[in-house]
Amino acid sequence: MNEDTLRFLPVSLHIGIEEIDAQHAELFGHLVRLKRLCLNINRLPANEADALIARLRKHFATEAHYAAEAGLDFAAHTIRHQTMLEQVSKALKGASAANADVFGVLRYVEYWFERHIAHEDQELADKLALRPTSHSFTEAPPATS
Ligand SMILES: [Fe+2]
Ligand SMILES: [Fe+2]
Repeated sequence: MNEDTLRFLPVSLHIGIEEIDAQHAELFGHLVRLKRLCLNINRLPANEADALIARLRKHFATEAHYAAEAGLDFAAHTIRHQTMLEQVSKALKGASAANADVFGVLRYVEYWFERHIAHEDQELADKLALRPTSHSFTEAPPATS
């Protein structure tokens, strides 16, 4: 993982799956970049909001892929992702308007990220840790008779 990007992710939110931790760090890094941008113009450009949502969708697809590979039931987690996408999209849309409390919105989005990682994503990581991966199957020595 890129150390420069990783510094945006609090250590308490590392879940131990490198690709997912890297994407979480990129999401937090994206928020930092948006805060800097908003300091200059005091609103959030719609294209920047769209880029964050696109990154979030891609990240959710990655988590769904890990769950599917391990044969985990991911239905409840998927519902949480959908709710988060709806809430974050709605909040970001508000931040594009003139006179919006843009930093309040970005704090709200950050709170959603933190809460979801600490609960649902950590639970996913715990379940994945209990499952043998396809990689470990291929690494297993052949059975002897
Ligand atoms: Fe996540
Ligand atoms: Fe998740």
